[in-house]
Amino acid sequence: MSIGGRFVSDESKGGAPKKLSTKDILAMARAQASGGAPAPAAEQPAPAATPATPAAAPKPAAGKKPTSTAEILAAARAQAAGGAAPAAAAPATPAAAPAAKPKPAAGGAPKSTAEILAAARAAAGAKAAGGAAAPAAPAATAKAPAAETASAPTGDAPKVSLEAMLAAVRPATAAATAAPAATGAAPAAAPAKPAVAPPMPAKPVPAAKAAAPAPDAGRRSLVMALLGTPIAMVGGLFSSAFSAAWTFLAATTGIATLATARFMLPNVLTEPPRKFKIGPPSDYDLGTVSTKWVAQYGIWIVHTDQYKGKNLIYALASVCTHLGCTPSWLEGERKYKCPCHGSGFYVTGINFEGPAPRPLERVGITLSADGMLEVDKSLKFQEEMGQWADPASFYEVVG
Ligand code: FES
Repeated sequence: MSIGGRFVSDESKGGAPKKLSTKDILAMARAQASGGAPAPAAEQPAPAATPATPAAAPKPAAGKKPTSTAEILAAARAQAAGGAAPAAAAPATPAAAPAAKPKPAAGGAPKSTAEILAAARAAAGAKAAGGAAAPAAPAATAKAPAAETASAPTGDAPKVSLEAMLAAVRPATAAATAAPAATGAAPAAAPAKPAVAPPMPAKPVPAAKAAAPAPDAGRRSLVMALLGTPIAMVGGLFSSAFSAAWTFLAATTGIATLATARFMLPNVLTEPPRKFKIGPPSDYDLGTVSTKWVAQYGIWIVHTDQYKGKNLIYALASVCTHLGCTPSWLEGERKYKCPCHGSGFYVTGINFEGPAPRPLERVGITLSADGMLEVDKSLKFQEEMGQWADPASFYEVVG
């Protein structure tokens, strides 16, 4: 037998019994089940060391060989249940060491593949220790058909297939694989596929990044709040050339309206007062014409005794009686000369040359209470009309 031969061969060489692999055990079990055919040559020890024949090994049903892994395991499981006692009874031998790792429950049947393999190794070790006297145990890994397993010497061992044990460690496929194993159907039957495809996982939402505020978001929002409104207004006004043209037209019309309103209002007149004081009579010497007030009030102050022999002080308007020009007093010629058309007037104001039709006009003059001469331009006195005789038109110096 190959199992026994393996251990015997190791022992015969003086070394420790070698641990059998699952592949070896299955190969040897198949060999046993097929009628004691030797294992593959690669794993077979020397033929001389091979012990007894596999007469004690469980045989498959008459005319039926174990073919599937489940059947081989079932046969091995049955052998292991029956050969556990010898394995436990020979713990002192070195061959029993590998079987001590996974121990099946005392008095119970092996459940998992590891337990079954451990039991098979233990049986193989015990047989190797006992040599040819105990050849029945090594056949623990041989597989037998399920129907034959029920009639094996250890018939109380439960029937647990390899698929069922794999299904126990694969919860996801347990329902699909357990059913055919329990019913004894063909183990090659494919597990049922899920009718509905699992839902696709939801994609991550990238909006979380956008929700995170930027470090300078507050400052940027403040600048946009300060500049956003004017920019938006300007942009709205000049969004198109049409609106710009209408804006320009409206602005031009408004400016023209304001200019017209200003034109309708009169300008402010800054005329000099009609009455004003020119100082005491002593400021004006006899025989002189003062031009002190021509520029400011448009009058000459004349102190003369040439008009009707009286010593008079009076005020002449500096307006030409021809067309209104302003004549000039020519001290050297002792006359008023109009630059426009050449009219000339004596020191008394009487016209003597040029186109002027009449003498210059006097304005009102009086001596005020404070001794000052006061001129009133609102009063006009014309010599051709006899008005120069009016006392309001002169101040007569007495003394
Ligand atoms: Fe004085 Fe014509 S305005 S002479």
